[in-house]
Amino acid sequence: MVPRMQIFVTKFREVVENVESATCCGQFRMSLGRIDALAEYNTAVATFVRDFQPGDFETLWRMDQECFAPGVSYSKPELMSFINRSGAFTLVATDAKEIQGFIVTQGGKAGHVITIDVSPQARRSGVGSLLLRGAEDRLVSSGSRIINLETAVDNVSALAFYRSHGYRVVRTWPRYYANGVDALVLKKILSNA
Ligand SMILES: CC(C)(COP(=O)(O)OP(=O)(O)OC[C@H]1O[C@@H](n2cnc3c(N)ncnc32)[C@H](O)[C@@H]1OP(=O)(O)O)[C@@H](O)C(=O)NCCC(=O)NCCS
Repeated sequence: MVPRMQIFVTKFREVVENVESATCCGQFRMSLGRIDALAEYNTAVATFVRDFQPGDFETLWRMDQECFAPGVSYSKPELMSFINRSGAFTLVATDAKEIQGFIVTQGGKAGHVITIDVSPQARRSGVGSLLLRGAEDRLVSSGSRIINLETAVDNVSALAFYRSHGYRVVRTWPRYYANGVDALVLKKILSNA
């Protein structure tokens, strides 16, 4: 997870305007197309992965507060700025009733998982894996050759999760998080590399 950063009010306004203007038809059509493309990730419990829609934002932000300690979880402007970064995409895992998790990812030759959050009630049922595989496939098809990410040294479940998906620790960033905890940098070489 990328750490908190200071964002000025003007930047926040700019981002909010971008999110609002993203509700136009073009964005919506793109989302519907990608639902089909991601249908293969559906599970027996009818969880499916789709693109982020602006109306999801409040739910995702609340989930992030549940998933991370205060000071590590994102403020609304922070989360919004990551979602709206150039080259970033956000996937949402949902069933018929509610959103179960999301992943924010940055594309590029070296892709980057900015954050992955699964609601506590939905954990250990494959939702995180569904999201990570969906993001990896999207990154591969857009030309990424590796994926990097950071996670706190004491985040035992995340480390087990990433290891189970083939990520390996490559270095440590001392006191990376706002609460002073070190981060481990993990890396995975994608199949097209
Ligand atoms: C890390 C996280 C995304 C995993 O999501 P999830 O939906 O529970 O993961 P999955 O069910 O797909 O788990 C896949 C595998 O990862 C490993 N794993 C996941 N959670 C684990 C845990 N708590 N303990 C040990 N292994 C774990 C297991 O090998 C698991 O396979 P199994 O259930 O068949 O044993 C979720 O725990 C989470 O949102 N945590 C809070 C936010 C966070 O720390 N994000 C990562 C840092 S950016």
